[in-house]
Amino acid sequence: ERTQVGIVGAGPAGLLLSHLLHREGIASVVFESRGRDHVQQRLRAGVLEQGTVDLLSQVGLGERMKRLGMPQTGIDFRFGGASHRIDFTAETGRTVMVYPQHEVVHDLIEARIAAGADLRFDTPVTRLAGLDGPAPSIEFDADGATRSMRCDFVIGCDGFHGICRSAIPPTVRKEYDRIYPFGWLGILAEVPPAAPDVTWGCHESGFAMLSFRSPTRSRLYLQCEPDDRPENWSDDRIWSALHERLDVADMPPLIEGRILQKSVTGMRSFLVEPMRHGSLFLAGDAAHIVPPTGAKGLNSAVADIQVLGRALADHYRKGSDRMLDSYSETCLRRMWLVQRFSAGLCTMVHSFPGQSDFIKRLQRADLEYMTGTAPGRLAFSDNFTGLPVEA
Ligand code: FAD
Ligand code: DHB
Repeated sequence: ERTQVGIVGAGPAGLLLSHLLHREGIASVVFESRGRDHVQQRLRAGVLEQGTVDLLSQVGLGERMKRLGMPQTGIDFRFGGASHRIDFTAETGRTVMVYPQHEVVHDLIEARIAAGADLRFDTPVTRLAGLDGPAPSIEFDADGATRSMRCDFVIGCDGFHGICRSAIPPTVRKEYDRIYPFGWLGILAEVPPAAPDVTWGCHESGFAMLSFRSPTRSRLYLQCEPDDRPENWSDDRIWSALHERLDVADMPPLIEGRILQKSVTGMRSFLVEPMRHGSLFLAGDAAHIVPPTGAKGLNSAVADIQVLGRALADHYRKGSDRMLDSYSETCLRRMWLVQRFSAGLCTMVHSFPGQSDFIKRLQRADLEYMTGTAPGRLAFSDNFTGLPVEA
């Protein structure tokens, strides 16, 4: 078998690339190790930058998002017993949208299937071959046998635990990794959002966040131990920690309700350089991980794909490889700024084990500067609503 572009992974990155290529008349095959239901139900990110919303709308994926998504104009930071709202729309003219990742994935899969796409679920890729030469190929398991697909390009959209990144030889691959000494307990609760804005509780006893998924469902997060287990958190313990970290005197308290789901996410910053080797291109979590504090994981995957989609279209339509050749550099330039923002926020709002009183006061001063001064509010807003993508 052969195709033009072989894509490993049917997360947001792989699916969106396959959709953009289809619109340019470029053929692709997407290989996904898990089943369709699993991919479509995985609960993950929630916030889409303005640029992500605009791109999805431009390529015909905006209809459900416009109907179900919840546009946001500000974030409420709570610390020192008070609310400190940043109106990021007033600062930048841009909004963000709360629209869950699994809905984005749902819309993408529906659109790809309607267009007759070759999406292969339950089909793990086991090896990449010939990446340095003229005949790259993808080896995959299907029906109990190993098979192979020839392609012009191999795109590694297989997430952090995928196999593509390791196909870049260690001699040219440089990885940057930082693991944080805490995790997030993520909670889905059957309660209407208790506040109009996504709300961050920056409390001495740990971080907490209130976000939402629909008018009747809230998504909440609590800082926990890095290797914590959901079983360690009874509903009572969850609600009392959420109240302690999020409630302030001048705003309505959290609304309690049935907890539908709990899970623990570890927290790291990770990035690989370069993002290309021969005919292999990495995109999304396969190339970089950010702590979820800045809501940048999904948005960064979309930014990579926007660049790569343009670059591949230039290759096939105009015979120009200029954008392909600068893909890694273009994405990494933006990604280091996103890493800086995400790591900076993560360090500002969490409580670190054993940290000195001095560091705690610096964290408070960082929060005061970010929310209480015009340059602080502008810098947060510019980053949070999304830095420009060079495509
Ligand atoms: P993924 O969505 O990880 O997709 C990769 C796909 O590749 C998967 O479907 C996987 O099954 C498949 N795959 C892997 N190996 C193979 C193989 N060998 N062969 C075939 N297929 C393979 N971001 C936020 O901004 N906010 C959040 O709150 C947030 N929460 C998160 C919670 C969790 C538990 C995780 C894991 C991530 C979270 N993220 C969050 C990050 C965000 O979800 C990711 O950045 C986003 O999913 C990246 O998309 P992707 O397409 O690059 O990778
Ligand atoms: C979510 C919202 C955020 O603002 C964030 O930084 C991380 C996650 C969410 O809704 O899941």
